[in-house]
Amino acid sequence: MEKSGPISSFYAGRSVFVTGATGFMGKVLIEKLLWSCPDIKEIFLLMRLKKNIPIDDRLRKMLTLPLFDRIRENRPQDLQKLIPVIGDVKSEGLGLPPVERQFLIDRVSVIFHVAASVRFDDPLRDAVFINCRSTRDICILAANMKKLVSLLHVSSTYSHTDKYVVEEKLYPYDVDWKKVIKIAETVDDHTLRVLTPKFMEGFPNTYTFTKRLAECVVADYAGILPIAIFRPSIVISSMEEPMPGWLDNFNGPVGLMVGGGKGVLRVAYVSSNISADFMPVDVAIKAMIVSTWKRGSVTITQEPDIHVYNCSSADIKSISMAEIGEMGIRLTEKVPLEDIIWRPAATVTSVKTVYYLLTLILHLLPAYIIDFLLKMAGKKPMLVKLQRKVYVANSALEYFLTNEWKFRNEKMFDLVTNLPPIDDDAFGFELATFDIHKYFENCIIGAKKYLLKEDMNRLPEAKVHYDRMYWIDMVFKIWLTLIIAWGLVHYGFISYALQTYRSVIELFTS
Ligand SMILES: NC(=O)c1ccc[n+]([C@@H]2O[C@H](COP(=O)([O-])OP(=O)(O)OC[C@H]3O[C@@H](n4cnc5c(N)ncnc54)[C@H](OP(=O)(O)O)[C@@H]3O)[C@@H](O)[C@H]2O)c1
Repeated sequence: MEKSGPISSFYAGRSVFVTGATGFMGKVLIEKLLWSCPDIKEIFLLMRLKKNIPIDDRLRKMLTLPLFDRIRENRPQDLQKLIPVIGDVKSEGLGLPPVERQFLIDRVSVIFHVAASVRFDDPLRDAVFINCRSTRDICILAANMKKLVSLLHVSSTYSHTDKYVVEEKLYPYDVDWKKVIKIAETVDDHTLRVLTPKFMEGFPNTYTFTKRLAECVVADYAGILPIAIFRPSIVISSMEEPMPGWLDNFNGPVGLMVGGGKGVLRVAYVSSNISADFMPVDVAIKAMIVSTWKRGSVTITQEPDIHVYNCSSADIKSISMAEIGEMGIRLTEKVPLEDIIWRPAATVTSVKTVYYLLTLILHLLPAYIIDFLLKMAGKKPMLVKLQRKVYVANSALEYFLTNEWKFRNEKMFDLVTNLPPIDDDAFGFELATFDIHKYFENCIIGAKKYLLKEDMNRLPEAKVHYDRMYWIDMVFKIWLTLIIAWGLVHYGFISYALQTYRSVIELFTS
């Protein structure tokens, strides 16, 4: 158990409300709150029914994840502080029944609004309801809470893709969020589809646009609510807490490494020199807990302005997309994934025609051949389908993989580097000096264990398979080179080229 400092004391005895607690960041947040703020009173989790599974069952299942091992093993009784509350942020008023709503109003003093739809291709109506209207409804709920001392709204650095440099401040925006909500509530599907590109001018997708609008919502509540806006860049595997390499989705650079490591992803449409801005999830969560404490440690009369933090890394730990790609190939040689379909190797290009050509040769052609062989062997073909998904994912990320932004983060680093010394162990972190290779190695190991459910005891077999695929790849390349050479000789290309070469030399020497 960790020592109690001003930050953990701030949370002691408090009832906290979290939306999005079942997601990647939300789960790490509630685990860390339970672990490092042991005197927290209770944490209400807004949860929706999913696949008709009741929220208690969803929570019970979630708590069996390895993420919660240290709490289950050391302080299992603390898990009872997690209280699911039925709701749905897509519905007006967060879908909260009146009794639950009143209960929250009476007890809660700290809110983390984490829920969002992070899909880039959501229809505008869904994205507006989930990302923007829910933020309004959180603010309305918060405004009724007499005890409220801090509300953290999780935004994204990419909600400002229309600026090259994104400062830790609010930006005015000429689109009226109230009108957008009204339109989403009243206009029919067809008209909304037609209006979508017009609305989203300057934004690549409905996600970034509606996250931008959500910031405008909270900006309008400045002065009456103690709000902090927290903007992470790309949140990926944990650095060390509660274990290194924890991850539960294929988003971001680790997903690319896994795709490359399996031999599925062999070409990506990426500008190789742009910086990859990423944040380990445990670092982002510590910063969120600290930002919320900071906001709650001053009243809105003392400080009416919204606190804004950019949780980004690029100027502290800079690494280019190309370096990440190379590192992924090296690491998946050292720690191979199981059942790879080809020796890992990847080409990154920002030339569209080269990307299309290589996609055809390196992704689709082998996928059709392997699916054909699988079909012949009476097995289910799957690679063409998988390659389609890879293509769609790469296309959705295209804008972010070929553009670069500068996310200023002085305020966030000032906050977390000047922690009360007693809280440093629990909430401090060192990004500038950490070993990036070791970190990404742990990311690969974590992806093997937690995402792909591969047993690390089977690593020797995975290595044998890797070596086999290495030699098959070599033999294939030699065979291909010989075929091409034979073709060139056979069809007289080489003698023609030699003849031309001789004629040119003669021309210059005569
Ligand atoms: N991860 C990143 O790289 C990143 C970067 C920048 C900003 N962010 C922001 O960080 C936050 C968390 O992201 P994440 O990566 O943890 O996302 P995530 O894993 O997709 O989790 C999203 C959470 O929102 C909940 N949610 C979505 N729709 C809901 C609905 N209609 N009603 C109730 N709950 C709903 C989900 O609940 P279910 O389990 O029921 O689906 C889940 O708990 C988001 O606000 C996101 O915009 C994330």
